[in-house]
Amino acid sequence: MTPETETIQQYKDYIGVFDSGVGGISVLGELIRELPEEDFYFFGDSANAPYGEKTIDEVRELTLRAAERMAENGVKALVIACNTATSAAVKQIRERYSTHMPVIGIEPALKPAAEGMDHGRILVMATAITLKLEKYHELSHRLENQAEFIPLECSGLAARIEKGDLDGEDLKRLLRGLLGPYIGKVDGVVLGCTHYPFVRKQIREIMGDIPLYDGAKGTARELHRQLKKRGLKKPGTGKKGQVVLDSSRHTPETMAVYEELCRAAAAGLSSDCS
Ligand code: DGL
Repeated sequence: MTPETETIQQYKDYIGVFDSGVGGISVLGELIRELPEEDFYFFGDSANAPYGEKTIDEVRELTLRAAERMAENGVKALVIACNTATSAAVKQIRERYSTHMPVIGIEPALKPAAEGMDHGRILVMATAITLKLEKYHELSHRLENQAEFIPLECSGLAARIEKGDLDGEDLKRLLRGLLGPYIGKVDGVVLGCTHYPFVRKQIREIMGDIPLYDGAKGTARELHRQLKKRGLKKPGTGKKGQVVLDSSRHTPETMAVYEELCRAAAAGLSSDCS
């Protein structure tokens, strides 16, 4: 997309969905299921992924830039489908845009996980930034009487998922290295990064049949509520909306991964949290 096309509000009245890369497509799948007639413009910043291993200031800057791009394109609502970007920048983005459009962030699904079991031990897989920032600490502190949370920084995992080929042996090895010490020792796992639902099957193979939780459904319901509240919901047409996938790394290889994951998300990656 060129700067010229941006100024003509190419995605006017679409819902803008943003992530550091392909991860947000796992959320996009739920948004489409919740609001099938809406139009969606997805932008993944794959040229700058992974965000989770950058500095907080860098992530904030990149997220603000993406929000600006969405606003310039005329979107009517913004979903930050990235736990890392939400933790680092949702406050600043709300300050700047929430009078013009609803801004919905995603957070690790600690609450549904805590409520889904009785005083469980819950592994929280997330990026370094998500686990470092206030949102995670505030959430885990608020729920500490209901569950025990064990944070697990998953270095390298989002970057590997960005590459696609999710059945690769190297990816299985990476997951086994991260999760191995917790096999049989936890009651559930929070997928606290939107890339991770794409490897649910592989995580299950390692961890066994325990519940996995992510924040996609909660985010979809919140978007629905906000659209209704602000009178922004598209009037019913009975027709499926448009879905546009865009990336800061717009190569045929990258876009093929986006398309493939979008098909997987549309078929359903749905978590154990409802
Ligand atoms: N998908 C992002 C999240 O939900 C992070 C991946 C990355 O490190 O860029 O946290």
